This record gives sequence, C-alpha cells and structure tokens, in this order.
Amino acid sequence: MHDIHATVFPYFSRWQSSHGKIFIYWLGTEPFLYIADPEFLKKMSTEVLAKKWGKPNVFRNDRNPMFGNGLIMVEGNEWVHHRHVVAPSFSPLNLKAMGSMIKECTEQMMERWLTQINSGNSEIDVEKEIIATAGEIIATSSFGMKDEKAREICEKLRELQMILFKTTRYVGVPFGKWFNTKKTLEARKLGKEIDKLLLNVITNRKNNSNNKEKGQEDLLGLLLEANRKVDGKFGKTLSTRELVDECKTFFFAGHETTALAISWTLFLLAVHEDWQIQLRDEIRELAGDNKEIDINVLSGLKKMKWVMNEAVRLYPPAPNVQRQAKEDIKVDNNFTVPSGTNIWIDVVGMHHDPTLWGDDVNEFRPERFIDDVNGGCNHKMGYLPFGFGGRMCVGRNLSFMEYKIVLTLLLSRFRFKLSPSYQHSPAIMLSLRPTHGLPLIVETL
Ligand code: HEM
Repeated sequence: MHDIHATVFPYFSRWQSSHGKIFIYWLGTEPFLYIADPEFLKKMSTEVLAKKWGKPNVFRNDRNPMFGNGLIMVEGNEWVHHRHVVAPSFSPLNLKAMGSMIKECTEQMMERWLTQINSGNSEIDVEKEIIATAGEIIATSSFGMKDEKAREICEKLRELQMILFKTTRYVGVPFGKWFNTKKTLEARKLGKEIDKLLLNVITNRKNNSNNKEKGQEDLLGLLLEANRKVDGKFGKTLSTRELVDECKTFFFAGHETTALAISWTLFLLAVHEDWQIQLRDEIRELAGDNKEIDINVLSGLKKMKWVMNEAVRLYPPAPNVQRQAKEDIKVDNNFTVPSGTNIWIDVVGMHHDPTLWGDDVNEFRPERFIDDVNGGCNHKMGYLPFGFGGRMCVGRNLSFMEYKIVLTLLLSRFRFKLSPSYQHSPAIMLSLRPTHGLPLIVETL
C-alpha cells in the first residue's frame, strides 16, 4: 500500500530502471539533472555553498505571483540577507506565543466536526478540513489577523494557487506562458490584489505603534523586529515589498505542507490503529487532563515525533527538492555539472529505496526512528523531508509545533477509521496529496 514511487512518479520510476539513479531529462528546452543517489548529492553539495545554489529560472518565472522574491526563490547574497532576517523568527522560543493561535483555530475545526457528527454524519474529508485550518493558522500566525481580513487574503492566496497549478503549465517550453494567456493574466491580477492587501497590513503595522506589542507575537511582528535590529548592523533592511513576498512565501510554503504531514499521519493512524492507541496513551500520560497546551509536554511527545518522521518519509509533503547550478560543479574530478543545469532531487524515490532502508522500506514502522534521527537510513542524505544544507526548510520548528498541537487535540477527542469511500491514490499536485481527498470515519471518544 505504501509503495508509492511508481504511482506518483511513473516516468522517473521507469527511467530509473533503464538509466540508473542519475540521468538527464528535458522539460521543453531546459535540461534537468535527475538525482536519486544520496552519495552523488553529498559529493555535489560539499562543492557548493548554500548561497551559491540557484533555484531553476523556469520555476521562478512560473511561480512569481506566489513567492515573488521571498526566501524560497532568492539567490546569492540576497538569500543570505533574507535568511539572516527571517530565520530567528522561527526559533522555538519565538514560536511559543503562536501555540494559542494554533489551538484556537484547531478547536474551531473540532467544533464543526462535532456538529457534523452529532447530526449523524461521521464521514469527514479530513484533508480538506485540515488544509483550510492550516491556512487560517498560517494567516493568523504570519500576519496576526483574525476573521474577515485574514480569510480574504487566505482565500485569494488559495485561488491563486488553484489558477497556477490546476491548469496545464508549459514549463520550459519557449513562449509557454502565452499558451495560457488568460490564466497568466488572471494570476497576475490576483497576485497584485494580494500584494495590495498585504502592503496595507504591513504599512498599518509599521505606522501603528498601539499594535506593536500585540504584533510582535506573530511572524510579521518578529520579522519587523528583526528588521529593525538588522538596520545599522548590515546597513540594509528588508523593504516593505520584500516583507510582502515573505508573508506570501510563508503562506504557500507553510500551510499545505504541514496540513499534509498531519493528514497523511491521520491516514496512517487510521490504517495502523495500534499506533493511534499508543499516541493517545502517550498524550494522556504526559498531559493528563490538562486542557492547556504546555510547550514542555509537546517536547516530551517522543512517539509522536517518530510517527511524524515516518509519515513524512513514506508520504513527503514536498516530494522533490530543486536547485540550479550557478557555476560548473566538479564531482569526483571526472564529472562536471555545467553551470545553468537544473537539478531535480527525487525525495519520494530516495525515501522508498530498499538499498537505503532495507526490505521493510515500504512498511509503516515509526520505531525505526527510536534511536536514530535518520531512521536507520544507511546514508545521511537519503532522508530529506525538509531539504538539505543551508537552504533546509526555515519553518520546520513551526511545523513540528503545529503538528504536535493539532494531533494532541484531535487524538484526545476523536478516534479515526478509514472510510469505505477512501481510494488510495497519492499524486503530485505541487505537493504530495491524496487525489480523492481523505474521507475518514471520525468518532468521539
Ligand atoms: C511538514 C511541513 C513542511 C515541509 C515538509 C517543508 C519542506 C520544505 C522543503 C523540502 C524545502 C526546500 C529545502 C531545500 O531546498 O533544501 C523547504 C523550504 C522552505 N520552507 Fe518548508 N516545509 C514545511 C513547513 C514549512 C513552514 C511551516 C514554513 C513557514 C511558515 C516553511 C517555509 C519554508 C521556506 C521559507 C523555505 C525556503 C528556505 C530557503 O530557501 O532558505 N516551511 N520546506
């Protein structure tokens, strides 16, 4: 059931059989180096500093309305500068204050579920619900707005994502953007509307000293604070425009990925009920009847962390990692990756490779992470749910916290079973998602 590589990447799986774990393929006129070999990746990445890596231009153009010049897309010294301002906002200490926002949004979702269950319908499309809630969580924890304003931005951002990814894209095909002029213009228009809304939020925040204290609790507040500190030290702060792009980046990079980690976990726990019981027992043991979320309790949830590690191994929400060589990269003295080559790293492929994990690679076995953060993988670059090197996911602490809070609340209140209407069909829609949603039978405990 969990052997998904050939389902989600049928071409790469077939080409691996005939060409091995490193080969070149083309998207239109763009060459891509495919890599599913961690040793090759290690050799290449020891040659290249994080700031020397680029991101494929073809994807940058395609995704500009989503990410702009946010952290995911910037390169070189610009990236160093952005990362320097952004990273401290995600320290566990700074994130603490966001716990209550996460709890509040999750409780609202649970109330909706209870109403539905009490009306006699216990089948819930958990993926859809959790993505919507994670959108609210990231909007609230990014720009601190509740209700209408956050919802309006949230809805527009999701609409933009739909336009960009539910239509055929012609990545790498010369003049490809003109094949879809209507959609391209629609995306650009929506991108501008979102920018305007966010610009308003940021300008108000900058001007409104009354909000300062409250604002500092969310990511934008932390960013503004970090930006103030940077001023003078490095002589350059992020402009309001750049802050808008960072807020959009947090939204797109941060909500669906975390929601999918939670959704795939609930699917796995519905299939492997023994682990659902073990996690519930662990929560009870550590939290007792305490209704408040205590950060120390969260860090004590060891089994939950193994389950998360195993869920993002089998079903990595970010199924591939991309780079572009900005200069020639020599590997082993006899191989050169020429400057300009796009690099496409197959995370699903490596996470399901029996030569790296052993014969039980496609089994759900959270215990493989008990004494090993790398899950017993025989190469440390074979497990990359959050990417690698200096460009590794900057928001992972936030996703760990959100994952633990949401699961703690859900498992304390509900039991999950797979609905007979569930069809197992994981597919790539930018991230790795269940094609037909995730209908689960949800019972109150
Ligand atoms: C389970 C949840 C998540 C997963 C699986 C995930 C995965 C990833 C991956 C694979 C990368 C690319 C790393 C690389 O290129 O080496 C990345 C980068 C990034 N992620 Fe996440 N992510 C998650 C949650 C978040 C959250 C919650 C945020 C922010 C709110 C976030 C913000 C970012 C940003 C800004 C980058 C770009 C970092 C850089 O290039 O310096 N992510 N993430």
